[in-house]
Amino acid sequence: MKLTITAPQNQPAVVFSLVDQSALEQLIANKSIETLSDVVTATQFKAQFSEQLPLVGLSTETPFLTLLGLGDTEQLAQKKLATLAQHIITVAQKKHAAIEINVAALPAKFQYIFALQLTQANYTFDEFKSTKHQQVLEQVYFSNSQLTAQQIELLNALQSGQNLARDLGNKPGNTCYPEYLVTVAEELVKAYPNHLKLTVLDEQQIADLGMGAFLAVSQGSDRPGRIITLEYNSDREEAPVVLVGKAITFDTGGISLKPGAGMDEMKFDMGGGASVFGTLRAICEANLPIHVVGLIAAAENMPSAKATRPGDIVKTMSGQTVEILNTDAEGRLVLCDALTYVKRFNPAVVIDIATLTGACVVALGKILTGAFSPDDELIHELETAGETSFDRVWRLPVIDDYQDGLDSPFADIANITGPVGGGAISAACFLQRFTREYRWAHLDVAGTAWVSGAAKGSSGRPVPLLTQFIANRVK
Ligand code: BES
Ligand code: MN
Ligand code: ZN
Repeated sequence: MKLTITAPQNQPAVVFSLVDQSALEQLIANKSIETLSDVVTATQFKAQFSEQLPLVGLSTETPFLTLLGLGDTEQLAQKKLATLAQHIITVAQKKHAAIEINVAALPAKFQYIFALQLTQANYTFDEFKSTKHQQVLEQVYFSNSQLTAQQIELLNALQSGQNLARDLGNKPGNTCYPEYLVTVAEELVKAYPNHLKLTVLDEQQIADLGMGAFLAVSQGSDRPGRIITLEYNSDREEAPVVLVGKAITFDTGGISLKPGAGMDEMKFDMGGGASVFGTLRAICEANLPIHVVGLIAAAENMPSAKATRPGDIVKTMSGQTVEILNTDAEGRLVLCDALTYVKRFNPAVVIDIATLTGACVVALGKILTGAFSPDDELIHELETAGETSFDRVWRLPVIDDYQDGLDSPFADIANITGPVGGGAISAACFLQRFTREYRWAHLDVAGTAWVSGAAKGSSGRPVPLLTQFIANRVK
């Protein structure tokens, strides 16, 4: 689906008009629909939030017009708008190729989010269904909007990037594994050869670099791990923004095996890496003038005769040794070596994105992403980008007081703490030991990268946040 602010050639006949009480009164007063006053009286339509009034055949200009109530626009919130977006898309998706949405009555500050929510509501995933979704909606024309052409361009790019992340997340572990992600990277380079440079490390190269923690995870699987690096606009002089994504294509827990119930959801454990792919696609499409490096640390965490045992000690690329007390705390193991590796890019800032801890889901639920950084300014930038894109974060601490819990009697560091609580924080503290040499933030998306329950599926978060963060950095 493509969003536009210029009317398409053949003006779509299907119009949704968002109205509050005063917009409704104006509409009645200007008499463009003669019988509107009577219909409103008869139906008692009050333009309350989510109220609908289909006016089929009442106007010759717009034979298919639906009024959608906004209620009191003072009481509007981004969350509520998602309901309206979902409604419009559900009605339009199967029936109409192009629709117009008149947003004159929608306060300007909500228009960007509303447009984004429309694109999100239009997403479907039916790759593995024998009967495909019927979907004909191709174009949404936003009339009377205050959006700029540039904002529309970013929205379309963002949609394409977020959809890529969602597709990757939704694919099961038997089709989405590290080598498959390499093909995704190759496709992206084919689509944007002038923007992207690809480097793929195989397990031999990973071993040669001394990444013992990464290999401790990938060695248990028959599917070999890969470290995928995509450099965007590598010819630019400035120091890059570096994104590092955890991409465990399936997390069984390894020898520290997870319980069976709900384990299918661990196919989403590559959501951090998927968001790096998605963000790269979005910035390619938006052609943003900035230098970015995306790294995807891809491995499968399996129990096998080759798998790491609890208590095994490995050496990381940084030289620090790690006692792996729990093989299910694997995200930090693949990330710590990736975070050491990216020093070579002399980053302006490094952000890692990971479905890292169940503890983060306990702390923040599935609404807000956990953001950790010792850098107040960087946190502020992430918070701002999260508000603008309605893909919000909440700061959690990463302070040295929690470091002692990671002490090991045998190695430099243990990969879990004892039963002291604060699991999301101690995971961040683990990563911090590998990131002291540059500006760094860690995003724990364990709660936000996918939705559980009846609407189970990848959310494509935090692609909106990261894309906005990068767009805000363009000088
Ligand atoms: N991928 C999981 C984190 C996770 C769990 C995300 C549930 C979303 C929902 C991660 O690899 C993991 O297993 N973490 C462990 C760490 C523990 C062993 C210290 C966890 O959170 O239980
Ligand atoms: Mn795990
Ligand atoms: Zn995991």
